[in-house]
Amino acid sequence: MAYIPLCKLRNLMEGEAAPFNVDGREIMVLWPEGGELKAYDGLCPHQKIPFSRGVFNGRYLTCTAHDWVFDGRNGECRQGQDCTLTTYPLRVVEGMVEIELA
Ligand code: FES
Repeated sequence: MAYIPLCKLRNLMEGEAAPFNVDGREIMVLWPEGGELKAYDGLCPHQKIPFSRGVFNGRYLTCTAHDWVFDGRNGECRQGQDCTLTTYPLRVVEGMVEIELA
């Protein structure tokens, strides 16, 4: 599977979240404070509400639909049911963030 360009790295900020739609798929990119850039499935595993309507505080992503909370560093659900967000590989090539979708 090929990598797909998402955005320039300089357009992302540590501690912030950025939603993307890639080939019709919702993707949520999180950059936890003191951590690495991560790309997760952009739909909440509870009822598939887009995380673009959620809140990221620099560490935890909260789905505001029913307040499930996910750790931005590894996608583990910290409040809600036992689950982990699907993670997609990211890489940065010449300042461009690229994602590989399975
Ligand atoms: S849809 Fe996200 S917590 Fe219910």
